Amino acid sequence: MRTIIFEEQTLAFGDDQSVLEALENKGFLVPSRWRQGNCHSCVLHCNEFEYSHPTNLSAPDNSVYGLDDKQKSMGLFLSCQCKGSEILADSTLNMQLAKLDVNSANVIEKKSLSDRIFSIKFVCNTKWQAGQFVNIHTPFGERSYSIASIVDEGVIELHISKKLNGKVSNYLFNNATVGSKFTISNANGDCFYHPFISKKPLLLIGTGSGLAPLVGILKQAIKSKHEEDIHLYIAQGEPQLHYYQKQLNRLDKKQNNLTIHYVCRRNSDNIELENNMRVGELEDIIKNDFENLQPFAAFICGSPQMVRNMQIQCIMNRMDRSNIRVDPFEDNSYEP
Ligand code: FES
Repeated sequence: MRTIIFEEQTLAFGDDQSVLEALENKGFLVPSRWRQGNCHSCVLHCNEFEYSHPTNLSAPDNSVYGLDDKQKSMGLFLSCQCKGSEILADSTLNMQLAKLDVNSANVIEKKSLSDRIFSIKFVCNTKWQAGQFVNIHTPFGERSYSIASIVDEGVIELHISKKLNGKVSNYLFNNATVGSKFTISNANGDCFYHPFISKKPLLLIGTGSGLAPLVGILKQAIKSKHEEDIHLYIAQGEPQLHYYQKQLNRLDKKQNNLTIHYVCRRNSDNIELENNMRVGELEDIIKNDFENLQPFAAFICGSPQMVRNMQIQCIMNRMDRSNIRVDPFEDNSYEP
């Protein structure tokens, strides 16, 4: 049997359970978010996974995905991704909440991008790549948001979707003002422009505020003088939920190799559609546009269901798995 020791209590850890589930079943509160292995909210420290620890058990590969080498050697891992079946039988694992580095971030701008989405710009002395995410700490907990700005801009820009009962997003909307200070995590995630895709046509696919990381990746691709075609597909639940169109259309005019495709799932009020917007499911529209995705690299961000479907569709249409990067998160601008 595998055993976890957490806050001086000992608990059994079943084969099909994740560490996060095992701890929650025992009543421990561990921060978590989408449990997809990409937000890093649930990072724990395990003595036995430390590089220098005598037992030196390894953390399963997918439970350290996206962590840097230093974090891995320190014994950090994602508790939502670490399953009992992947740990040696008869092991005892001593775990604690991880002490992660945090950074002070000063708000220099907050503005509304649509009825539901606003942007915040921070100055912060940390490293990031456009498309990665940071966790913002508030009195109501922490949430991760993706970065829409490139390093050359000198600020971290986030697009935040106001959720009806979202305590963190509403707190930020009501309380973040120019000059206010927050603590944010180091930037994490691998959904950013990598030099190895510089010779590939790009598909940037997103829903809701999944546009934020895609804007960052797009700006970085342009800055890196990406020569192959870039197709940005952005979908919202209804046409009026689209935002940032002026900025995107300006880029579209300037960049010969860029095509922007606007999609809405429904058009309930039958409003007149602009910018060649199409109505339908994003996955079907892309399937009709491209039969063979083999030459492409893709970034897929937003609704977890869409991200899963598109990932499968890309692979079925011959795109190499290693050329797909994803950032799933729920967003009420797209889901019904
Ligand atoms: S909850 Fe585990 S990575 Fe997000």
